[in-house]
Amino acid sequence: SVGRHHDHMGNEIDEQPAVAQRVLDILSPGIDGGTLWRGLGLPPLDRIDRIAVLGCGTSLHAGRAVAGVFERLGHMPTRAVTASEAAHEVWEPRTLVVALSQSGETADVLRALDTVPADRGTVLALTNNPSSSLARRAHAVIDCLAGPEIGVAATKTFVAQIVTGACVALSGLAVSARRDVAAFDADLLALGAIPETLSAALDAWHNRAKRLAADLATASGFLFLGRGSGLVYAAEGALKLKELSYRWAEHQPAGELKHGPLALVDAGTPVFVVDDGDPRLDVDIAEVRARGGRVLRIGERTLRVGGMPLHLPRRGPSWGPLETVVPLQMFARELALRLHRDVDKPRNLAKSVTVS
Ligand code: F6R
Repeated sequence: SVGRHHDHMGNEIDEQPAVAQRVLDILSPGIDGGTLWRGLGLPPLDRIDRIAVLGCGTSLHAGRAVAGVFERLGHMPTRAVTASEAAHEVWEPRTLVVALSQSGETADVLRALDTVPADRGTVLALTNNPSSSLARRAHAVIDCLAGPEIGVAATKTFVAQIVTGACVALSGLAVSARRDVAAFDADLLALGAIPETLSAALDAWHNRAKRLAADLATASGFLFLGRGSGLVYAAEGALKLKELSYRWAEHQPAGELKHGPLALVDAGTPVFVVDDGDPRLDVDIAEVRARGGRVLRIGERTLRVGGMPLHLPRRGPSWGPLETVVPLQMFARELALRLHRDVDKPRNLAKSVTVS
């Protein structure tokens, strides 16, 4: 891709606000009246009892964020299925299986779909490749519209999957009796603001990510904490850091710290905290600081756009604080560059994993 960086990954990170805007321009008009949902040929949401999101790696993280929309706005039971572990999964009737795969060719995902009985689940594919094997196997397909992603580490496709998935879910909920009306309206506003919040995060972290990478270049391990809807972004931050920098990184629900992981925290241990606005994080942060850990809190509730503060609602959107992924991607890339890693082609990994 063409941009200010020499590597594809840097340019793909920068493209994220534009990708989100493209998805919204095309899909958000179909939310009202549920036309997007109906156009996909999906059964009305009131005839679906539960949602299972299915995928691997970053796509599974995106799926968890999308599941949050059905859960929080529609009070529907949801679960996330790791595709490579689906062999003994019990599929209940009236399940909507949302299968996410950037490439649409991930063998683990295709095999997992073999375990879904034909009369049990409707399969909706969210993919960046609408002519892929996954797209052919699904009952309904939606293109995530991210454009080609060259860097092996998924970045803009992650954002595109979440924005696409949120539009589809909101469209299904728009005509459903399950809908929590006040939360739905708040999420519609938050949806429209995604491109702006992503841009603000890019601007805010442009120099900061590089400085932080210089500071933390010798750290041997990293913790990523979050609560609720912030947890998937903590997970994604840890995954990006591992695959790009080859340093150990682990994510945990912040409340689990005291049940073991806190023993890892020592003087200077870097601990990223994804802030979704949960006030309990203040206590978690105090625990880390008391052990000398270095807390890096991501997700200020007030970002600046063109010098003006942009106030985000206190209750974050049901897909969580999506903009927090931007600094986490930027930090992983900057650290990797500093350690002379190939950020577009991390060792041992392939862009499309066609073996299971
Ligand atoms: C991480 C990454 C992988 C993929 C995973 C699934 O940056 O890219 O974790 O997300 O291999 O790939 P797709 O989405 O093609 O099914």
